[in-house]
Amino acid sequence: MKVAILGGTGKMGNALGGEIAKRNQVIIGSTDAARAKAAAARIAGAVGMDYRDASRAADAVIIAVPYRAIGSMAGLATDVSGKLVVSLVNPLELEGGLLRYSAKGISAAEELARLLPGARVATAFNNVPAGFFGMENPPQVDALIAAESKETFEETAGLVRGVRGMRPLYAGPLSQASIVESVTALVLNLASLNGTGSLTTRFVTRKG
Ligand SMILES: NC(=O)c1ccc[n+]([C@@H]2O[C@H](COP(=O)([O-])OP(=O)(O)OC[C@H]3O[C@@H](n4cnc5c(N)ncnc54)[C@H](OP(=O)(O)O)[C@@H]3O)[C@@H](O)[C@H]2O)c1
Repeated sequence: MKVAILGGTGKMGNALGGEIAKRNQVIIGSTDAARAKAAAARIAGAVGMDYRDASRAADAVIIAVPYRAIGSMAGLATDVSGKLVVSLVNPLELEGGLLRYSAKGISAAEELARLLPGARVATAFNNVPAGFFGMENPPQVDALIAAESKETFEETAGLVRGVRGMRPLYAGPLSQASIVESVTALVLNLASLNGTGSLTTRFVTRKG
């Protein structure tokens, strides 16, 4: 599958791109095509393009830009129509030394679904810090997926399963995306308050 990562020059987009590229053709997307090509050169088999060309060429599009930038995605509505769009965008603000969830009204994923009406939108990887990708022996991590339909969940889960160590868990419809996104504030605050080093989500099952 051809997977475009918009914001693929950033910390998260580039780290995730390295893992996704093990099973897919990765297209690093950037606001600047030259920067996209330079970032793609760090990933075996990846190519770099500007956002529009990357979105047009891809079968699925991952959005890895800051929350403040998601309004600019509206211009890509035609290019991503009929495609899977995976948002890992977290609306977060620092207040009094702690992160708090700062979505304005609706979650980032729901906002993207409004801006990109022809796309199938889901969350994934929101709660997984970039440093968890590309590890030699990655731990098991649960990637929480809120998706507008069960079919979109299954499609996103297929992509998630292709990333070493990742288990997809269905978090419900897109109306649950704000819960998924806000868990990121919790895991980052827990890591900083308790000095644990980088944390992510992993749920355990009671046996018996
Ligand atoms: N870092 C993590 O560990 C992590 C983990 C999970 C989720 N996330 C989420 O992933 C998203 C990106 O985080 P990041 O840490 O990778 O950020 P980052 O390193 O700052 O990268 C963001 C990328 O977005 C692009 N971009 C497009 N419009 C922008 C704008 N108006 N302002 C700034 N950058 C813009 C930039 O690439 P071009 O200009 O080249 O297009 C930039 O490289 C955020 O929503 C964050 O919540 C991050």
